Amino acid sequence: MSKSLVVYFSVYGTAKNMAEIIAKQTGADLVEIEPLVPYDSNRDHYNQLAKLAKQEHDSNARPAIKNEISVQDYDTIFVGYPMWWYTFPMILYTFFDKYDFSGKTIIPFNTHMGSGDGGTYRTIQQLEPKARVLDGLPMEMRSAERGDVKAISKWLEKLGLK
Ligand SMILES: Cc1cc2nc3c(=O)[nH]c(=O)nc-3n(C[C@H](O)[C@H](O)[C@H](O)COP(=O)(O)O)c2cc1C
Repeated sequence: MSKSLVVYFSVYGTAKNMAEIIAKQTGADLVEIEPLVPYDSNRDHYNQLAKLAKQEHDSNARPAIKNEISVQDYDTIFVGYPMWWYTFPMILYTFFDKYDFSGKTIIPFNTHMGSGDGGTYRTIQQLEPKARVLDGLPMEMRSAERGDVKAISKWLEKLGLK
């Protein structure tokens, strides 16, 4: 099998935690979606982040990505993110606008505090109709923080990727 890529966006580190476990279990390369303007990762400032995220959502913003991600070099790409306001952070739209996933396999995963995947896996398929989107893994924040290696292992096995 060709090498896979794990791409993730994370502010508080929980989606990052999942991404690292997936990369370790599959031998995939790992890369972060880095925003040009960083988000405040201090959890005491949650209200400000919530307000900013809501503004971005309501204005259909496309926050810029600082780094180039070599999506073209991979056939299978895991894409991970937190739920923000019942969908994915708007920077994920920037990401899906920017890269061509035709003929590629996308495997989504996300962290949340109750919303599950919030329909985002379907949104990804709509944004990337020429990609194959496999069953994703939503994980509650605390489990992701703890690093639920077993749940990730089980999911990868079910997908036939382990
Ligand atoms: C701005 C903001 C909005 C959020 N909105 C939701 C939501 O709509 N549904 C939900 O289940 N969790 C929501 N959460 C909780 C996050 O999904 C959760 O904290 C996640 O684990 C953060 O991922 P990260 O550590 O990778 O940044 C929100 C968190 C933030 C900061």
